[in-house]
Amino acid sequence: MLTIKDLEFVPYITADALQDRISELALRIMDDYKDREIVFIVVLNGAFMFAADLLKQIKGNHRVSFVKISSYEGLTSSGSMDFVLGLAEDVQGKNIIVIEDIVDTGKTLTAFMREIGARSPASAKIATLLSKPEARTCPIEPDYVAFSIENRFVVGYGLDYDGLGRNLPEIYQLAP
Ligand code: XMP
Ligand code: MG
Repeated sequence: MLTIKDLEFVPYITADALQDRISELALRIMDDYKDREIVFIVVLNGAFMFAADLLKQIKGNHRVSFVKISSYEGLTSSGSMDFVLGLAEDVQGKNIIVIEDIVDTGKTLTAFMREIGARSPASAKIATLLSKPEARTCPIEPDYVAFSIENRFVVGYGLDYDGLGRNLPEIYQLAP
């Protein structure tokens, strides 16, 4: 059992299971892109650990850049996004893979992929550590998913509860 502030969490995905799945995703990505250059765009903060482990296993000459997006809670129905750290990399004509920690309702990535699409990339895909298909309100399907999970809050391995828990090497789920 893990306690963070007022909430209790139970172990959910082990560090070994994470690494095994991430290795599989890395192989799939390399197989899909062969020797084409990829521009990876990492969505901070949550995806930092997943991105580090995934990218270390992808061979070849690629680019990596970072964006930071805050979605305003309370305005969730509008899916209003604030690009705290904007997209500096030139994406026109490039093969883009956006790296995200979790696709929940899909609002964040729907807005962000629209932003990327407007800049005429050659292609744009999504790699996410976690996906909660039951929570989806926007019709967006990530292309590479390490784990599809049930609709319950998780922390660890980059994901936080109120800023805490990102440093954990495994993933915990809110206790039932
Ligand atoms: P949407 O709904 O736009 O949201 O797909 C994606 C963002 O919501 C956060 N999120 C979570 N963070 N545990 C977390 O620590 C969760 O279970 C969870 N579900 C959603 C996350 O920031 C993600 O980028
Ligand atoms: Mg996030």
